[in-house]
Amino acid sequence: MSAFTRESDDEVSRGARAVVVHAELHGGDRRNPEARLEEAKGLALAIGIDVQASQSFRVRDRKPATLFGSGQVDAIAALAMDHEADLVVVDNALSPVQQSNLEKATKAKVIDRTGLILEIFGERAATNEGRLQVELAHLDYQAGRLVRSWTHLERQRGGFGFLGGPGETQIEADRRMIRDRMAKIRRELEQVTRTRGLHRARRQKAPWPVIALVGYTNAGKSTLFNRMTGAEVMAEDLLFATLDPTMRQIALPGLDKAILSDTVGFVSDLPTQLIAAFRATLEEVLSADLIVHVRDVAHSDSTAQRDDVLQVLEELDVIGEGVDPVTAVPILEVWNKLDLLDEEAAAHMHEVAARQDNVVLVSALTGEGVDGFQKAVSDMLTKGADVHQIMIDPTDGASLAWLHEHGEVLESAMQADGMRVEARLSQSAYARFRARQS
Ligand code: GTP
Repeated sequence: MSAFTRESDDEVSRGARAVVVHAELHGGDRRNPEARLEEAKGLALAIGIDVQASQSFRVRDRKPATLFGSGQVDAIAALAMDHEADLVVVDNALSPVQQSNLEKATKAKVIDRTGLILEIFGERAATNEGRLQVELAHLDYQAGRLVRSWTHLERQRGGFGFLGGPGETQIEADRRMIRDRMAKIRRELEQVTRTRGLHRARRQKAPWPVIALVGYTNAGKSTLFNRMTGAEVMAEDLLFATLDPTMRQIALPGLDKAILSDTVGFVSDLPTQLIAAFRATLEEVLSADLIVHVRDVAHSDSTAQRDDVLQVLEELDVIGEGVDPVTAVPILEVWNKLDLLDEEAAAHMHEVAARQDNVVLVSALTGEGVDGFQKAVSDMLTKGADVHQIMIDPTDGASLAWLHEHGEVLESAMQADGMRVEARLSQSAYARFRARQS
């Protein structure tokens, strides 16, 4: 994080004593409030916040000034005081004004869900690019909240909130600082993206299909990844234990080699600023040959979590209206944590899964069903694989690289009318290649 972020009023320190509150919004939420509160606590714990208490409030009308009703605000203030908390985590998105008013009312620092997720991403980002992307998202978020540094400064000076004067000058200065920093990060990102492009180009020479694991946070992606690769990726009960994609080479039945890529866990209400960060870090997903969507089917909000993941994939243009089903990247759903279901529920799940295409049931923890999963992956990757004779322009290096990446190039030869390439491609890869050429 930059010096600016470190000094900023928005920084959350590890070990801060906190209470976590959630507004159950009328008509909006179909999630189990208990599970939702658990997730919020999990997010807070993920960055070392010391959660003392948590409570869910049913909110009928969102108050523009405070989100919660006035009695509820008093209750939150009392909760914070009782637990000597200097931080209140609100598991909803707050406007800058709501955040500032809640801070005044609770005499504690308030952080909303967006801020919390940004903090986590900031802490977890391991690559240079990941760090830059998250910082950019964070600055963008802060820029909208600069009114807070003004109140903060006025408090320090003992002022009583007149507009103008030093406060406003300070906001201007802060704004300029943020703008400059954002411009600098964008320039750095361009450089990093170029370098990564080179790395990718090198890898494109390997004729191995790429399988990308996606899923809601804590669904079990890293555990499945480890089981498939024997690698020791950090698999913890910490939300977002993984942020940057990790890639490993694996062997599958009937398939010599493939690359498995573990990606960041998705979460509901993902800050919009982070979708851009996702786009860059999820480039592997965007260009994958198969997406494996890992789901925790033992979770009470499993369906809602599935929808959240699909929504992010839609925002990334992987699925959705504008995507041609013929050329779309195929998706295999893995229903994980089978071991947590009782016999009856497991039997029911098996029945439902059997009626659907592209669904397999596993327990990444015990290994149950993993063989079947691996077979399903290779079946989908090689489905309809055929040898095609393809003519390309000899100067079209990108198409040749694409064929190398998504299929197996058996032979290439120069002819009078261009370059003839003989390549084995799966049905979906061939369709995507044709769409690319047209
Ligand atoms: P993020 O990094 O947050 O995206 O999580 P993830 O999807 O990579 O999940 P991870 O593999 O870290 O697993 C989360 C928790 O679920 C860990 O405590 C795992 O041990 C547990 N877990 C994963 N798979 C299974 C399973 O099949 N059964 C059971 N009982 N627990 C599982």
